[in-house]
Amino acid sequence: MTLNPEDHKEFLTGKHIAIGITGGIAAYKTPLLIRLLRRAGADVRVIATESALKFTTRWTLETLSENPLETEMFPEDSQAETRHISTATWADLFLIVPATANIIGKIASGISDDALTTTLCAYTGPVALAPAMNTNMYENPITKKNLGTLREVGYRIIDPDSGEMACHTFGVGRMAEPERIFEEVLEILRAPETHRNDSAAATTLVGPLAGKKVLVTAGPCREPIDSVRFISNRSSGKMGYALAEQALALGAEVTLISGPTALEKPAGVKTIRIETTQELLEKVIENIATSNILIMAAAPADFTTLEYSEQKIKKGSSPKSLNLKPTPDILKEVSKVDHSAFVVGFALESENLVENARRKLRDKKLDMIVANPAGESGAGPDSPTNRAVLIEKSGETTELSRMEKTRLAQIILEKTIALCGLGAQTT
Ligand SMILES: Cc1cc2nc3c(=O)[nH]c(=O)nc-3n(C[C@H](O)[C@H](O)[C@H](O)COP(=O)(O)O)c2cc1C
Repeated sequence: MTLNPEDHKEFLTGKHIAIGITGGIAAYKTPLLIRLLRRAGADVRVIATESALKFTTRWTLETLSENPLETEMFPEDSQAETRHISTATWADLFLIVPATANIIGKIASGISDDALTTTLCAYTGPVALAPAMNTNMYENPITKKNLGTLREVGYRIIDPDSGEMACHTFGVGRMAEPERIFEEVLEILRAPETHRNDSAAATTLVGPLAGKKVLVTAGPCREPIDSVRFISNRSSGKMGYALAEQALALGAEVTLISGPTALEKPAGVKTIRIETTQELLEKVIENIATSNILIMAAAPADFTTLEYSEQKIKKGSSPKSLNLKPTPDILKEVSKVDHSAFVVGFALESENLVENARRKLRDKKLDMIVANPAGESGAGPDSPTNRAVLIEKSGETTELSRMEKTRLAQIILEKTIALCGLGAQTT
């Protein structure tokens, strides 16, 4: 559906939005966002870094925002010497669009060495950043850590899209389109108290999941053959980790039960490590009674070995076949336990995706199932992106296009929040 900013005039008229613009190629899209916000009646002030003005111009930003551009910490105009304070108190929302790796690092480190970072430092309302950069810069562990720090203090990160980058490579890092950022602005301004960035937000969990316990499972299971060998699957754990991080950002107390993955333990999440499907089952059962929401994104091994050898099986005496037996069905076992958690399962299917997922939803008494295709490029267990169909207990079905797992995690949680009656659904 095409966005018509004028439909939001009643809500956005009189809202004050500060937009920080930094030196990335995506700065050419910021004027489009300013235009959408102005057409919807919002008042916009723009603060640009020096590098931002290499990618767009003062004239464009001032003409579209209908306000003087703020760029300097020490402007000649003496009346303006504390403009960073006046803009900080004026704004209802602070956006940084695009956010370079540099500005993300500076903010995460508490640096205030220009008009933008100083104004942001003096500001206490909701903040959202739209990172945009080359994939290697985005996936650099320091950038990731800095984004994690900002998430922890309550900043909203508007995840970038995947696709062709300005440098002609393909990957994640392309800035969210202005229309998506506009939608996020509406969402934040409708519930600004859930996006606070002050010290209270850092210590007290706020958001639609505040006070709720979310249990997430992630990653593969390993079924041992002998002391060094095992059967496993291709799960990377990315989907479950993204869900745990997003649930935390939405205010939940999160426990993550994780199989072996190469991913870093998410800061602020209680992480329990498991290896086998039996261990996964035991930990889920141990935690389910105290959880409000269970999201089963782990990939249990469906089979385990009948015999296990304590000793490494010698190459020369290798068995001709492996005798296997089914592992416990975790969701089925969960359905037998007395609990009141809202349960979300995943179905990875190579054929009849929706039909098979519907059957699983019914058989395992789930509240919602996320059906995703196996063997499709850009989707499934070891891909950073996924394509999914969300099927609710009521039969309601939402088909989603291929997207980053972090974005999919947001949508799954928004749907869960809406179905649990914890807040307005926005996606
Ligand atoms: C042509 C060009 C494009 C750039 N694009 C990006 C980008 O998309 N994202 C990014 O993080 N940095 C990008 N940079 C690097 C930033 O401009 C550089 O780190 C700068 O110091 C950012 O300053 P600022 O964060 O104060 O605006 C680019 C640099 C050049 C020369």
